[in-house]
Amino acid sequence: MKKYLAFVLTAVVFVCCLAGCGKKTTSETTPTPTATQEVTLPPTDTPTPTPSPVPEPPTVYLKDVFGAHGMKVGTCLTTQMISMSAKEKLILDNYNSVTMENAMKPDYILDQKKSQETGSLVVAFNDDMITMLDWAKANNMAVRGHTLVWYSQTPQWIFYDNFDNKTGKLVGRDEMLKRMESLIKQMFEKLTAEGYADLFYAYDIVNEAWMEDGKIRSQMNNWYTIIGDDYLWYAFYYANKYAPENINLFYNDYNEQFKTNALEKFIKTLVDEDGNWLIDGIGFQAHLYTGDSLTDYFKTVDQLSKLGLIIEITELDVGLGAWQKIKQPTEENLAEQGRFYYNLVKGIFERVDNGTLKMDSFTFWGINDGASWRKEYNPLLLDKNFNKKPAFYGACQVKEFAGFDQ
Ligand code: GLA
Repeated sequence: MKKYLAFVLTAVVFVCCLAGCGKKTTSETTPTPTATQEVTLPPTDTPTPTPSPVPEPPTVYLKDVFGAHGMKVGTCLTTQMISMSAKEKLILDNYNSVTMENAMKPDYILDQKKSQETGSLVVAFNDDMITMLDWAKANNMAVRGHTLVWYSQTPQWIFYDNFDNKTGKLVGRDEMLKRMESLIKQMFEKLTAEGYADLFYAYDIVNEAWMEDGKIRSQMNNWYTIIGDDYLWYAFYYANKYAPENINLFYNDYNEQFKTNALEKFIKTLVDEDGNWLIDGIGFQAHLYTGDSLTDYFKTVDQLSKLGLIIEITELDVGLGAWQKIKQPTEENLAEQGRFYYNLVKGIFERVDNGTLKMDSFTFWGINDGASWRKEYNPLLLDKNFNKKPAFYGACQVKEFAGFDQ
């Protein structure tokens, strides 16, 4: 009974409280706040909304994403990039193809002293090149060779009498063709002899020989000055003669979207007397800008892929802005870049999957903005501190993190 009474009493008190029984009138107790007094608000019962957790981006690796479409994915490489274990791991996790940023360019593989001593051009592998080839071999990395016949980053002495540009006397056409043949022959023979040839699947035999006005590059190009415009045909003729079967031979160029017709016309000339191709593929350097038109870019991809050759993206980076109109890496600009990468890679995958594009590899020109040759444009997938940008998720086709919600 006592228990019952206690219960009834408690219930009455509780109901009274709810109904406002015993509430003191405002005039009795509450002081009117003056302008300077702080009003402490009574605690409310409304639960404070807990912020929904920011979704974590999924863990993705470029080589899985591209591998799902039968493609290799690459980066350019320096010895510095593999000398630190964190960077090396990032490369090994994401890429299965590498292109040496500089070490295999003519400037780095020709020995002037020995050429003068022997009277014929001498190819010599440098330490960086060997370090990177050994690393590629140890880590099961495929390699794109870059590059042999180029107007730039090529020692000028190879064009002169006695391998000496101080003579001021350019050699004649026949001698220059001999030197070109020797350069190409030695590179492939040495790669084979030293056990590296199997690493290579593609090689840029000629780099950047056409101009945006549709003309052959004639200025500051001693290959052209000495040999004439058939230097291009000979480069592929010799490459075809000496390259091992497993290495596809490429013509590689930039601003390909502004040179489409000239490139198409030129590529069609690279056949032997029976009409067989001397070339296997066209390299699109793809040094692009977020301001570029992807519709126009894909017109070039589609037009040139109709030739039936392999097409590879060989040096991709997408600068913020437009040529000489740099945009800053604001959230919105990085989002725009993410969408650009997403749409570019999506368009490539669609064409590869439906069989209209023969693309077996896709190379980014570096792993992060800080080390890019175009660093002022912040063009790569990771920022200078190696954080993943929307561009990374764009390239990996993770749409939710590729800048589409901006
Ligand atoms: C061109 C060359 C590359 C490299 C870039 C700049 O695209 O093909 O090898 O020199 O310029 O880094």
